Amino acid sequence: MMTERAARLHLTTHVLDPSPDCPASTFAATQIVADFDDARALEALAERSDVVTFDIERGNLPALQELMDRGTPVRPGPRVLTLIRDKLLQRRFLEASGLPMPRYAEVEGPLEDAAARFGYPFVQKARRDGYDGRGVAVLQGPEDLQRALSGPSMIEERIDIARELAVIVVRGADGEMRCYPTIETLVDPRRAVLDGLLFPAPISPEQEREAWSIAATAVCALDGVGSFTVEMFLDRSNRLTLNEVSPRPHNAGHVTIEAAETCQFEQHLRAVTGLPLGDTRLVRPAAMVNLLAQGSKQRGPVRVEGLDRALALSGVRLHLYGKTEAWAGRKMGHLTVLDDDPSRALDRAMRARDCLRIEAATEVAA
Ligand SMILES: Nc1ncnc2c1ncn2[C@@H]1O[C@H](COP(=O)(O)OP(=O)(O)OP(=O)(O)O)[C@@H](O)[C@H]1O
Ligand SMILES: [Mg+2]
Repeated sequence: MMTERAARLHLTTHVLDPSPDCPASTFAATQIVADFDDARALEALAERSDVVTFDIERGNLPALQELMDRGTPVRPGPRVLTLIRDKLLQRRFLEASGLPMPRYAEVEGPLEDAAARFGYPFVQKARRDGYDGRGVAVLQGPEDLQRALSGPSMIEERIDIARELAVIVVRGADGEMRCYPTIETLVDPRRAVLDGLLFPAPISPEQEREAWSIAATAVCALDGVGSFTVEMFLDRSNRLTLNEVSPRPHNAGHVTIEAAETCQFEQHLRAVTGLPLGDTRLVRPAAMVNLLAQGSKQRGPVRVEGLDRALALSGVRLHLYGKTEAWAGRKMGHLTVLDDDPSRALDRAMRARDCLRIEAATEVAA
């Protein structure tokens, strides 16, 4: 989605991705097929580029720093990635900026000891490489210790969530910042993965101001350049706390493609290339739902069924990402519906989703 926008802005992109013919390569001039951590490949990418950015929080930090030192700007920079990639470092850094967040603790030594000191229930989070809820476990009591995450982790208070909110903030190299209207994200509680969203969130103007202030303070503290998404919890006593910051275009921001004056991808490109930032205003309220592959965990070529019925519903904007392989739970696309009433939009988007089935066509051994 970023390279597609880049083409419209007359920007040439070169993509580094380990999968040959990855979706981003469709609109890119060239693709370097290599691991995200490959220092030589990053160097080759920098040689072709005036500026380097990313839409996944991977990449070899010393190698990215090396690119910066040799004069290729990396935006956002490796310092931001260092702070964000480790959930404990991220919490400590943002707490030092005075931002409200769930009570948390580092896990040093056996988890049961940290748990006994902290008290149940709590949420255990992998410090690194958590994604789409894969590094998150809720432990109600000592009986849950057997299904705790292994590896370095932190624990935090389990918030009694009334709504999950996300604010997209774009910040230019000159420090100019703009916030989009707040999004309410609808997270699947079983898998802790984004299921859908409402745009704008049904919150009061005071809550919106508070959400914007938290989001802008976080991005400013990080000295970030680009599009950032700040995830927050609104609890049942109306307390707003910061969950985490994504230093890149985010799944929640896909709704801005149709529902905002400038989409998050274009904003990100404008910010990292030094173009003026775009308007963040709402065009029309909307809802978005994710399209995850169904079926088995086996990988296989993608089969999409039910397009005829889904597209027969008026106002349904379908985005399939062109991924060549599917497996159960993989994000394959999303659907957006615009409507003055976002919950009506959500109903229609879910109805369209129910018509679709995306899965691996034939099972090929992984
Ligand atoms: N402290 C908490 N209290 C209650 N629920 C929580 C807490 N932390 C996380 N969750 C739930 O787990 C979900 C995933 O958590 P988090 O965003 O930290 O993980 P993630 O794997 O980085 O997710 P993603 O990549 O999808 O954003 C949250 O959206 C929320 O629903
Ligand atoms: Mg999250």
